Amino acid sequence: MTRQYRIASVPGDGIGPEVIAAGLEVLDAVASRDGGFSLAVDHYDWGSDRYRKHGAFMPADALAWLRTADAIYFGAVGDPNIPDHITLWGLRLPICQGLDQYANVRPTRILPGVTSPLRDAGPGDLDWMIIRENSEGEYAGQGGRTHRGLPEEVATETSIFTRRGVERIMRFAFETARSRPRRHLTVVTKSNAQRHGMVFWDEIAALVSHDYKDVTWDKELVDAMTMRMVRRPRSLDTVVATNLHADILSDLAAALAGSLGIAPTGNIDPERRSPSMFEPIHGSAFDITGKGIANPVGTFWTGAMMLEHLGEKAAADLLMRAVEQVCAAGILSPDLGGSATTQAVTKAVVEAVRGMN
Ligand code: NAI
Ligand code: MG
Repeated sequence: MTRQYRIASVPGDGIGPEVIAAGLEVLDAVASRDGGFSLAVDHYDWGSDRYRKHGAFMPADALAWLRTADAIYFGAVGDPNIPDHITLWGLRLPICQGLDQYANVRPTRILPGVTSPLRDAGPGDLDWMIIRENSEGEYAGQGGRTHRGLPEEVATETSIFTRRGVERIMRFAFETARSRPRRHLTVVTKSNAQRHGMVFWDEIAALVSHDYKDVTWDKELVDAMTMRMVRRPRSLDTVVATNLHADILSDLAAALAGSLGIAPTGNIDPERRSPSMFEPIHGSAFDITGKGIANPVGTFWTGAMMLEHLGEKAAADLLMRAVEQVCAAGILSPDLGGSATTQAVTKAVVEAVRGMN
């Protein structure tokens, strides 16, 4: 009996459909190669085109559909003619928040064959796991605007930190740190200037750390953290930060690892009450949409994360070895300084998967 997993595919906008199609092709090759499992894919055409036609990015019962899946494979959302806060709050955030995918997991490392903008950093020198709080904080959606357009207009954007929310992400971060060889966690805040919510983070980190005596940990202010990532990348392993801080730090991490185009992420419900969602961290990249040059590696890597989450660790490792082999061979898309198309990279990875022992 082969194990079967139901995957909800939500390619979205821009290069989303290009990279998700490539990702599904590669995942299919991995499943055939492995032989122990198969993937049944449901395709959902949600996104900005649907919004233009029907006034909503996804149907009202979208979350119920997604709940029938074991995992969600997501591309990107964003359209040049629709404001970004409408697209983001129309599709991606309602899924993350509605399914309470509270841990956003962002691995970063320098793949072989990829050049880091850091002069001295090569594969092995930068190997991080950034954990982003994904349900509250600065993106909780609380706030408002009054007296619109008048000189006395006021806008507020309130950060929400709950003991339950901070404690659960902190436990997840310590667990993640424990699962990695270095067993080291860096807790990022801004507790010098933000004396309520961020001091609360520091306090909860200290409390939770008592349950993880085998994990060493340190604290870093977010501004100092940007310097440490650039100047002392080897001093970091697992990192936990708020929704906003980790959003910014993980874009920096992606750039330091060579390109936004290779960076993956998982929006995880660690308790597995709902399916988790896997996506490349980049957006819909209008500037290269339709040109056939989108880097699919971030989508392959997040596909490997999805397989691992589903319990198919061997298949996930096989996929990553295939991706690394292709990168090492110099089959790279233009964002990495190469000239390979999306299709060429995809074909090379499929072949590498088939030839892998
Ligand atoms: P972006 O990530 O779409 O693009 C930034 C730059 O990186 C562009 O020059 C783009 O060509 C390049 N790039 C991104 N992914 C690439 C890939 N796979 N291969 C090669 N090059 C790649 O970010 P931007 O331009 O700020 O946003 C465009 C739209 O995407 C906006 O509407 C934004 O709101 C949305 N967005 C959506 C996200 C999501 O759905 N998770 C995340 C980030 C942005
Ligand atoms: Mg971002």
